[in-house]
Amino acid sequence: MNIIARKIQPDIPAYSPAGNECALFETAWTRQLPLLLKGPTGCGKTRFVSHMAEKLGLPLTTVSCHDDLAAADLTGRFLLKGGETVWVDGPLTRAVRDGGVCYLDEIVEARKDVAVVLHPLTDDRRILPLERTGEELEAPPAFMLVVSYNPGYQSLLKALKPSTRQRFVAIEFDFLTKAREIEVVSAESGLSTVAVEPLVELARRLRALKGHDLEEGVSTRLLVYCASLIDAGLSPRDAVRAAMIEPLTDEPDVRTALLELAQAVIR
Ligand SMILES: Nc1ncnc2c1ncn2[C@@H]1O[C@H](COP(=O)(O)OP(=O)(O)OP(=O)(O)O)[C@@H](O)[C@H]1O
Ligand SMILES: [Mg+2]
Repeated sequence: MNIIARKIQPDIPAYSPAGNECALFETAWTRQLPLLLKGPTGCGKTRFVSHMAEKLGLPLTTVSCHDDLAAADLTGRFLLKGGETVWVDGPLTRAVRDGGVCYLDEIVEARKDVAVVLHPLTDDRRILPLERTGEELEAPPAFMLVVSYNPGYQSLLKALKPSTRQRFVAIEFDFLTKAREIEVVSAESGLSTVAVEPLVELARRLRALKGHDLEEGVSTRLLVYCASLIDAGLSPRDAVRAAMIEPLTDEPDVRTALLELAQAVIR
């Protein structure tokens, strides 16, 4: 077990690039352009943002968007404090005032009024109007907006509007090549690359079923979970079932078919 090796991590969260995304992020940052990351669940989007923010020495504010998230949750609101009404900045306003990266995860989940706030901030005006206080904040050069979403399982209703999408420089994420993914899963879990290889092979076969029997393929995240369980002493068969099959489906027939596929690859 490689617990010690995992503890002695460098300060920058490890990220293995698939292409030129690090240079793109850095250039977007230099040129003050907002960035949109899209790709399947667990393929490294969040890790990429933490890596880049740390590498560029920028504070990072992350907001996980949900279907109840309104513009005021990002900008702020008046709250009653000790009998007085005071304005309290939301996470986006704070990031605009202080500078740094503001990362809105799963942006498509947020309510429609969020677009109203994001639009003036993501074109050449770079301003955040605070309707309630009458303020209009100009984003400093040290502010960068990054949003992400998974286009796979979103309904058309939830897709981003072109007028929002076309305000961002976009990067499409996908799973890493086989050799690269083996390296990442081994480094993240502590399990040897030799032991990780069949897991990645199985993941690639399961991913090929996406759209037929499965809504989403096995993520790199699940591969890391699986390898960690094996590294901690669980049998590969049990680990694969718990981390790579059960999270994928609730359909008994599909599960049986996936387990058969797994047994053919994992001894
Ligand atoms: N390129 C990569 N380099 C290093 N680790 C990676 C990479 N891709 C994936 N991982 C591993 O996979 C895990 C999941 O990645 P991450 O949380 O960034 O996914 P995500 O794309 O943000 O997923 P979601 O859309 O579900 O939020 C990470 O914690 C990390 O262990
Ligand atoms: Mg994420």
